Amino acid sequence: MDGNGRWAQRRWLPRAAGHRAGVAVLTPLLEAAGEAGVKTLTLYAFSTENWARPVDEVDTLMSLFLETARKKVPQLNDRGARLRFLGRREHLPESVRAAMREAEDLTAQNDRLDVYIALNYGGRSEIVDAARRIVADGLSPDEVDEATFSKYLYAPEVPEVDLLIRTSGELRISNFLLWQIAYAEFYITDTLWPDFSREEFFRAIESYASRSRRRGGV
Ligand code: FPP
Repeated sequence: MDGNGRWAQRRWLPRAAGHRAGVAVLTPLLEAAGEAGVKTLTLYAFSTENWARPVDEVDTLMSLFLETARKKVPQLNDRGARLRFLGRREHLPESVRAAMREAEDLTAQNDRLDVYIALNYGGRSEIVDAARRIVADGLSPDEVDEATFSKYLYAPEVPEVDLLIRTSGELRISNFLLWQIAYAEFYITDTLWPDFSREEFFRAIESYASRSRRRGGV
């Protein structure tokens, strides 16, 4: 959800206003995803590196998450979305963890669209956490292959990423789903996240659909 801060800056607004505008994009986007037949959508909301932001901004983001969860989870549930979270939960405030558990419990039986929110998420942490659990489970080196390793990721059922959309013109991965994006196609746009529209989402999907994915073959 990249570019919220710059969106606000350009309007002489506080960064929090940019994050609020970023949240407003979620409902139209999730609706568009449902219409397009997307089965899984992952949003990068807060990275393990985002703790380095000023305390005020971190607090604002956590409050905004709680407010958004209260308002949007029932709507998502009505529309058949299943919500899950990726990331290290232990460092998040208990109020946030409780909202995550409630959202997951309420939507667990839905199957129209899987929505994953990466919150206190880092791709490297995910890989390290998987390695730790493999060691803790006492697996021998011979037992560790790509399929086994995948089972130790935060949400083993998450399919590999087909399309990665990066807003605000950044040309970096920024520690997002490192394992799962091995063969992802990229759609990079200068549009700032709060301006990302359903029309552009469909354009990204069209762009993806027009590519030939060879995955190392010919
Ligand atoms: C990136 O823009 C955005 C974030 C780090 C925060 C996004 C999270 C929320 C809006 C909280 C609510 C989330 C959900 C899923 C309900 P940036 O601040 O890095 O923008 P910039 O690069 O222009 O400074």
